[in-house]
Amino acid sequence: MLTSTALTRGISHVALVCSDMYETVKFWEDVGIPLLKMEELPGGGQHSFHDMGNGAMLSYMTFEDAPAAAPGVASQNLDVRKDGAKTAIASMNHIALDIPKERFDEILANMRAKGITVRTINHGSDEPYGDKPDDKTWIRSMYFRDPDGIAFEFASLMRKLGTEADLGPRVKNAKGERVDYTPVLLRQTRHAAE
Ligand SMILES: [Fe+2]
Repeated sequence: MLTSTALTRGISHVALVCSDMYETVKFWEDVGIPLLKMEELPGGGQHSFHDMGNGAMLSYMTFEDAPAAAPGVASQNLDVRKDGAKTAIASMNHIALDIPKERFDEILANMRAKGITVRTINHGSDEPYGDKPDDKTWIRSMYFRDPDGIAFEFASLMRKLGTEADLGPRVKNAKGERVDYTPVLLRQTRHAAE
């Protein structure tokens, strides 16, 4: 297995913009993500911090006269099966939070019991929309939306990544051409094998 030494230690916080701080706080507490801190912002807005685990926080801001939501540009369209998941360059497409694979089914059942629409995908599986992951599934995901339609994912990594097969596809440039570039982890394995 390839190893890497990352410079950073994961996410401190991801800051999103919501329309109704109360609805947002209540939604996340229903899901099981508690509020840790609320700050007042100049101009009447607020800035929240919610516990994502391992020191990472989900965060929201409200602004007086915030520009309207722009689905398909700043955030995903509500119906991705019909309209696709495409968003603008430099937009926030979706946020995925790690959950233990042993608790995936229990968390899914709780979300549905709370009335939240959730869709699941077993990525890499021959039956990606099946109930259970198989040996080919590298990540098991459930997708849902917050009260403003921001796309979230709860995901369970099923195995370690960074294998030769994981790093195999040649990276493309903006013209769609495959570039002759070897990722660091592959260079390290090839160097170690020499
Ligand atoms: Fe994702």
